[in-house]
Amino acid sequence: MEQFDFRRMSFYQIWIRSFADGNGDGIGDLWGVYDKLEYIASLGVDGIWFSPIYPSPNADYGYDISNYRDIHPDYGTLDQFRRVLDRAHALGLRVIMDLVINHTSDEHPWFLESRKSRTGPYSDYYIWRDPKWKGEARLPPNNWYSQFEGLAWEYGPEREQFYLHVFAKKQPDLNMDNPKVREEVKGVMRFWLDLGVDGFREDVITFISKHPELPDGIPWLPVVNGMPFYKDGPRLMEYLREFREVAREYGALQIGEAPMTPVKTALIYLTGEERVLDMMIQFDTMTADCFMTEFIHHPFSLPKLKRAFSRWQYALEGKGWNALYLENHDHPRVISRYGSEEYWRESGTMLAAAYLFQKGTPFIYQGQELGMTNVRLGSIEEYQDVATINAYHSFRRHQPEKKRMRHVHIASRDSARTPVQWNGSANAGFSTARPWFAVNPNYREINAEKEEADEGSILNFYRRCLRLRKENDTLLWGKYREYLPLHPRIYLYERSSEAERILVVCSFSKKEQEWKLPEGYSPEGCTPLLCNYPGEPVLGRLRPYEALVLRWGPAEEKGGEA
Ligand code: GLC
Ligand code: CA
Repeated sequence: MEQFDFRRMSFYQIWIRSFADGNGDGIGDLWGVYDKLEYIASLGVDGIWFSPIYPSPNADYGYDISNYRDIHPDYGTLDQFRRVLDRAHALGLRVIMDLVINHTSDEHPWFLESRKSRTGPYSDYYIWRDPKWKGEARLPPNNWYSQFEGLAWEYGPEREQFYLHVFAKKQPDLNMDNPKVREEVKGVMRFWLDLGVDGFREDVITFISKHPELPDGIPWLPVVNGMPFYKDGPRLMEYLREFREVAREYGALQIGEAPMTPVKTALIYLTGEERVLDMMIQFDTMTADCFMTEFIHHPFSLPKLKRAFSRWQYALEGKGWNALYLENHDHPRVISRYGSEEYWRESGTMLAAAYLFQKGTPFIYQGQELGMTNVRLGSIEEYQDVATINAYHSFRRHQPEKKRMRHVHIASRDSARTPVQWNGSANAGFSTARPWFAVNPNYREINAEKEEADEGSILNFYRRCLRLRKENDTLLWGKYREYLPLHPRIYLYERSSEAERILVVCSFSKKEQEWKLPEGYSPEGCTPLLCNYPGEPVLGRLRPYEALVLRWGPAEEKGGEA
């Protein structure tokens, strides 16, 4: 079946537990989603990506799946999902699901069987290895760390073997080298595609092929020492090709999540006749204030962010298609990272312009369009996320408590997981009951109801940006070019076509900035399309966190325009 044109689209990501509670138990659900579908459509997006909504013991909030073919009872039923899907489609919204197949939950029936013996029908569904012995000491098969919890191996006494878990202990890695496992994956894909969903966001899909010998990683490297042997592995292309065939039958969209995959490698998956993935969720743009993970924090560097933006823009030009994002459920809120809580409205709107007009398909994470910011909870006991809790217990143990908590405040994924702030009433209008997780205390200032009523709000700025992007062919298809790449406070990029040139100018500073038009541009031909301050912008001057979108005629006219 022919694929729909995802390049014109933009997506809204739902992390359901904190989105909207429809049945009053303090947990977000599909009834809540149903009631907010008009709101989502009103943003001007064209699709929804659901983070996992399947049955799960929630060791990693849905990313540990115990049944691939049902809905978590907290969130509803398959029938309620069908209702959401039909209504979304009627509103012109496509729906894509999270496909988490690098691992399952350790409570998945496959794993419960697999751990029992070395000879059962499921014994090779996971990655089991014999211990290494050092005298009497039973050691794991290699020295890999897991990304979430200590070593990457856990002992199963029934089999007297260890199983591999690249993430939490409760997330055993599937053995994708087993053809039966790949058939299961295809079955799961078909199940949801037959139900009518439009595609998948594929969780850590670049981790599914492990080096057959599972060699030791670099001993001194924390957390990711095994990565060279499980990322972009030897048989990955082969497996992605198999899954692609299924997607093709349905014209389904496939977006791969690829932590730390460099753009050069990404081109293998994203380009050419074979194109096994349509888009990739890269991590380059998430490290402008850290090294590899938010827990290794450094001050925000705009040049680093711009390098990441432009690297992907240039590399994919004419060959592949970018997924654009600044937030999702795995990262702290972007205003608190790359913007300024002090200049909340200004920086929240500026950041929207900084990425929504690049070439690609934008993703907006729930609450991002409201400018939600990081939460700062008093103690680690109040946090929910396994990665946060583990980082707290393993990093900087000798530092004073206050400092350690400051790192949690800066880095935790839980900042993206507080309930969405719908209005200024109790529980931010998220639920009539006590919410499952802390509401950010700033909900009286930052909420949807308030922003609906305010022409200049972050919410309405997102709407204006998305409308402009959709209506303008140059913003959709035009070439990207960056100016002033080394400037520490201004991000300036151009989108150009035969018909016109558009400059997007963004200040990342609390102070006023001066800037000059690039060569070939003159003030006369300029038509402002968008500004995040009221009134007319002044060329050459930027107020704190100001963002401008400016239009000129094509280059041949030397800046002049009829
Ligand atoms: C992906 C998900 C993240 C999850 C991890 C393990 O990175 O986005 O939330 O914890 O994979 O499934
Ligand atoms: Ca509920």
